Amino acid sequence: MNNNLINKALKSKIANVPIWFLRQAGRHIPEYYNIRRKEKNFIDFCLNEDLVIKCTKLPLKYYDLDAAIVFSDILMIPWAMKRNVKFCKNYGPSLDPMIPEETKILQNISIINELTPLKNSIMCLRKELPSSICLIGFAGAPWTLACYLIEGRGSKDFINTRKALWSSRKWFMKLIDTLIVYISQKLEMQANAGANVLMLFDTWSHMIPNNFFKDCAITPVSKIVKILRSKKIYTPIIGLPFKAGPSIIDYSYESLVDCIALDWSIELKWATKNINNEIAIQGNLDPASLIPNDSNNLEKNVVSILDSMKERKFIFNVGHGLTPECKIENVKKVINIVRNYQR
Ligand code: CP3
Repeated sequence: MNNNLINKALKSKIANVPIWFLRQAGRHIPEYYNIRRKEKNFIDFCLNEDLVIKCTKLPLKYYDLDAAIVFSDILMIPWAMKRNVKFCKNYGPSLDPMIPEETKILQNISIINELTPLKNSIMCLRKELPSSICLIGFAGAPWTLACYLIEGRGSKDFINTRKALWSSRKWFMKLIDTLIVYISQKLEMQANAGANVLMLFDTWSHMIPNNFFKDCAITPVSKIVKILRSKKIYTPIIGLPFKAGPSIIDYSYESLVDCIALDWSIELKWATKNINNEIAIQGNLDPASLIPNDSNNLEKNVVSILDSMKERKFIFNVGHGLTPECKIENVKKVINIVRNYQR
């Protein structure tokens, strides 16, 4: 069942570069809003199997892609932890902020039962999608989930999260360890349901004070990989340490991921020289280049990324999620360029 281009490209350097887009399932396709309207509350939407399946398949209706990412959200774990997660229009997510030193929250609770609709959606999708399409499951990485849990919302600097790390380090690391358990359970469930690849989003990894990067980003991810492998789950794992700068070098050697997703700030010559040669690379077109009607040098940029990755196991993608303003025509253009590229 892992006979798709993405799983192949994760194992070896192949002639045809596979392509998919971060946040491809959502908001840049106007038709998404017709489906979205059917459920007022975003959490209920993510738990509605029928709508999840429709949204996951939606980009495949428009584009010749190699993957479908299951429609869900990284905040489904905090929701299953009963942190009162809400999505408010023009505000983003809101949660009950965690109080450092609070102990009740760190008792293991069962989150998996709450996520049964996700499991069912993946099982259905894997049956319905052609085997040439890689089905991707995902979770937020421990640090990024801790950011939302402590801050209780998005933030420019996650000051309360960083303060908690400095003031209550033992408690903080216990929170990270608790999240490692939940994230591993969620990924295990998705792999067993039929996901061909798993992705870990560490969206706020650039908020980690540098002396804590190993403890908060690298080691937690390596523990998750080890837990999954110890359960005989060999599904490849892609890690995105978003905007983490030079720390991605250690991440590439020590986190045990099979592939590192590069954000749009990473210079590719530097990356290919410094990143662990054993693992695959995914990335890293700037999604903002897909917004203008007549985007400057789009073809040149795409080809330059492909040229830089000639000697590597490589999956073409954007360096962060597509935004609602990205143009369908530009996405199609990029896919065309990648499909016609010979390496
Ligand atoms: O292709 C896809 O869009 C797949 C599904 C998906 C969503 N969220 C749907 C969503 C995925 C992979 C995510 C991951 C996610 N969620 C991340 C990590 C990736 C990244 O972009 O860095 C993060 C940080 C979140 C948290 C989150 N969820 C925020 C901050 C918001 C509000 C702002 C926003 O981006 O819209 C969400 C809500 C959300 N998740 C929406 C969608 C389509 C919009 C809500 C709506 O339609 O009402």
